[in-house]
Amino acid sequence: MKKRNFAKPLSENTHLLRWVEKMVALCKPANLHWVDGSKAEYDALCAQMVAGGTFIKLNSKLWPNCYHARSDPGDVARVEDRTYICSLSKEAAGPTNNWVNPYEMRKKLRNLFAGCMAGRTMYVLPYSMGPVGGPMSQIGVQLTDSPYVVVNMRIMARIGLPVFAEIDKGEKRVVPCMHSVGAPLKPGAKDVPWPCNADKYIVHFPETREIWSYGSGYGGNALLGKKCFALRIASNLARDEGWMAEHMLILGVEDPKGEKTYVAAAFPSACGKTNFAMLIPPAAFKKKGWKVWTVGDDIAWIKPNAEGKLHAINPEAGFFGVAPGTSAKTNPNAMATLARNTIFTNTALTPDGGVWWEGMTDAPPAECLDWQGRKWTPAIGRATGAKAAHPNSRFTAPASQCPSIDPDWEKPEGVPLSAIIFGGRRAATIPLIYQAFNWSSGVYMGATMGSEMTAAAAGTLGKVRRDPFAMLPFCGYHMGDYFHHWIMMQKQLSATPRIFHVNWFRKDADGKFVWAGFSENMRILKWIVDRARGRTVAEETPIGWMPRYEDIDWTGLDFPKVKWDQIMAFDRGAWRQEVMGHEELFLDLHDRLPKELIFERELLICRM
Ligand code: OXD
Ligand code: MN
Repeated sequence: MKKRNFAKPLSENTHLLRWVEKMVALCKPANLHWVDGSKAEYDALCAQMVAGGTFIKLNSKLWPNCYHARSDPGDVARVEDRTYICSLSKEAAGPTNNWVNPYEMRKKLRNLFAGCMAGRTMYVLPYSMGPVGGPMSQIGVQLTDSPYVVVNMRIMARIGLPVFAEIDKGEKRVVPCMHSVGAPLKPGAKDVPWPCNADKYIVHFPETREIWSYGSGYGGNALLGKKCFALRIASNLARDEGWMAEHMLILGVEDPKGEKTYVAAAFPSACGKTNFAMLIPPAAFKKKGWKVWTVGDDIAWIKPNAEGKLHAINPEAGFFGVAPGTSAKTNPNAMATLARNTIFTNTALTPDGGVWWEGMTDAPPAECLDWQGRKWTPAIGRATGAKAAHPNSRFTAPASQCPSIDPDWEKPEGVPLSAIIFGGRRAATIPLIYQAFNWSSGVYMGATMGSEMTAAAAGTLGKVRRDPFAMLPFCGYHMGDYFHHWIMMQKQLSATPRIFHVNWFRKDADGKFVWAGFSENMRILKWIVDRARGRTVAEETPIGWMPRYEDIDWTGLDFPKVKWDQIMAFDRGAWRQEVMGHEELFLDLHDRLPKELIFERELLICRM
């Protein structure tokens, strides 16, 4: 087969060609590679990374077509303190975002990017978030010097020739995304397996819809379609164009009659979003004909259709999931999804050429290489506390491989949304399930969401961190304006989805979880769907509508009423404290807080 001339442009779009030319002049790469998105190209890049030491090919009998990568120990997660929203005014970014004057930042970036790709290849990577050509889809082009990013993006988004064809139609705005690992290679110098730079900048220019990312090759810092585009830039697009870009999973619940109800849910990190998106109902429910279908596990773009009904797409094409804790018990659908054609980053490596992470199996392997390639045994783990896999180790797996993937997951116009769920990790105060009275009280519910900090994050263990709509690190503009946008969305809707709050994590006096967990969440999901369809009753309480014990289907589970009363308890004293916590966030946002939320808080206090 004749070798393709990679430097030959695959697009005729003059804006794109000129921009690439300009960026080549700035970054000075040794080579240029226009990404066609083919399987042959993917395989060749993976082989090249195996040869260079970035990738290890896993045992293809156990893990067909899977690769393993180890990042630099200083490049293992999103860097929120190095993430910037450089809007023209500081006020537009709001107090919850880092802001730098865009003029200053551009100067800084020009210096950082000057010659940053020396000795490397610049890949011209076109991608579509959402199905190519879909009415809700958006296009970006990422210029990157990381082949690791190219192959991950081939799983996470639609890339290559069909996207160039879309760009050449010239009908859609393209978001330019600059990315460099920030590690120029001197002539003749040997590369390292994971090039990166200690200095990192993840920068968004909301007005010009641009992304510039420097110094990191990991996850959300580098796969720019995900958090940078699909949330931070898209939240700006959505506000201006009358839709919503949300940090939400999407799932469909099929009832025994075969009717499907779609639900979106926002949970902060470490609250089991991927597990919930891939939920397998308990046996008794399966027998009755209930099934859960997965549309997406992280991001939802939501838009009213011509009839004023909200529809949602998952803009991504893959899952970039946290590996630790994922097992055949907690999430069999995820395990089946990642069984082939998957890239693992910072997991442990087993002697038989496979991967392992904490929680994958009950018993750890007798010996393995940890995420940094050092020998690890359970005894070493016990003695030093060292984990075999990094707590933020990930799998990049195609969504199409998920056994529960919804047949309509790629429908360009999205799936109809009947309910929205908010949730957090709360040991006390917050009941298992309650429903907001209406849209504005639901917006208040989302705006005041909180979750307890886990050991994985810096901060005080157990302290509630307010994370409105789970968007704190992802909203690309002032959080108060974002609340206002949510309030205003109702005006476009003929029917509003019902809004709910769940808390699977309430504990009893002995510190034990009260809820039965995992697949039993289906019982609560059924009530939510029944409520959204007007099929069941609820009881009014000061905080919202709640199911009674007898409103939940308990078939196949012995969950006594005393436990139910415990997990559903509304405690006035605790809620006084809770409302004070809401106030703390509202104080920060006071100058742009919509009056509806102030009224909602007043009403809540009155009811209490
Ligand atoms: C993610 C996150 O990686 O929310 O999805 O941090
Ligand atoms: Mn996320």
